[in-house]
Amino acid sequence: MTDTSITRIIGRRVWDSRGRPTVEADITLANGKMGRAIAPAGASTGSGEAVDLRDGGEKFGGYDVTRAVANVNGEIADAMRGVDAADQTTLDTKLIALDGTPNKSRLGANAILAVSMAAAHAAAAAAQLPLYRYLGAAAATLMPLPQIQIFGGGAHAGRRVDIQDFLICCPAAKNFSEALDWTAEVYRAAGSLMKDAGKLAGVADEGGWWPMFETNEEALEMLVRAITRAGFKPRDQIAIALDVAASEFGTSGRYKLGLENRDLSSDEMIRMLIAWIDRYPIISIEDPLAEDDAAGFAAFTREVGHKIQIVGDDFLVSDATRLREAAKIGAANTVLLKPNQRGTLTELKACWDAARENNYAGIVSARSGETEDTTIIHLAVAWGVGQFKSAALPAANAWRNGTKLCALRKPSAPAPALPAPPCSAIRPRVFVT
Ligand code: PGA
Ligand code: ZN
Repeated sequence: MTDTSITRIIGRRVWDSRGRPTVEADITLANGKMGRAIAPAGASTGSGEAVDLRDGGEKFGGYDVTRAVANVNGEIADAMRGVDAADQTTLDTKLIALDGTPNKSRLGANAILAVSMAAAHAAAAAAQLPLYRYLGAAAATLMPLPQIQIFGGGAHAGRRVDIQDFLICCPAAKNFSEALDWTAEVYRAAGSLMKDAGKLAGVADEGGWWPMFETNEEALEMLVRAITRAGFKPRDQIAIALDVAASEFGTSGRYKLGLENRDLSSDEMIRMLIAWIDRYPIISIEDPLAEDDAAGFAAFTREVGHKIQIVGDDFLVSDATRLREAAKIGAANTVLLKPNQRGTLTELKACWDAARENNYAGIVSARSGETEDTTIIHLAVAWGVGQFKSAALPAANAWRNGTKLCALRKPSAPAPALPAPPCSAIRPRVFVT
């Protein structure tokens, strides 16, 4: 019963929340236990990310994954047979070597990640433990503070507004479940305010309200009104987190805000964001500047990094080396952690370890194309990351799973030592229910 070597891998095509194909992998072990995982997909990807293998051509807009699935069933299955699923590092190292490219483009990061995560699930099943407990052992007691989308934008809403995510974060909620309750009320209030204003026009890719705004700032005003309408104190109880996703509209130090027909320098972009921070209860900004604007990131962090969280997504692409480089120049103070930006759990963990060494906080994040796979919420708890970002409530399966994790927790679980916060705004809470 204890033989955790891989006997069988099956890959298949499934569908993500955008209606695009993606890769699912099943792994069976010699002891009969099984693990399953599905690769997610982003729309606003950083250029330094591991690359999915897509078929191209006409079918499904070129997004089909028959080649990636064939790689799981063929080359990867052949190479992984006999490998110990309980030895994630060796397994992932073999996957990386088998692919042979720096960005996993030959076999596909979608194929490789599905296998890497399925192996962890199989090993957890063999240990008869939930994944978070298997990966994190007794230290896995910190539920993350969630960041949840209310309005979508950018690449997720036909670029109707420039800013990609308008999210909320509930630093005063006493636990994960309460944070979800509060968020659900704000989401509902935002929907009815949009309706009253004649601006209700459905939802964006991640389930956040479609942003029928004349300016980017109008979304911030509406969000504050929604927090108040729902009966909460903006900032003290519920604060705003933004994902500017600036690489989508900025490069070489120029930023083109299409909605407002403005063309800003890096410094003007920084001034605009600082004005927003002064006017609105914003406590976290992701990718405030483009991935090629490390100097802008460093300047912005020098100015406001002591009071708000500055998150690198496209800028850091969950990469340990990039994080160390950013730390040398003081760019950003928090890393977004997305498994498919690297393609293996081992590389993602290495990035989180580098973040801790450099006193960066972390946020485990979903992609805009998700599935029923809930691995990410387990990673957030297993590694004690402290924060979690995902789609709006109607679209985010991992939230529901997170609530279940809360329910699983024993009331007597010991509180873990919290990572030192890099800025005063966000203090991960010990969400031990
Ligand atoms: P993506 O969006 O999955 O489309 O990249 C999420 C994000 O930018 O954080
Ligand atoms: Zn982002």
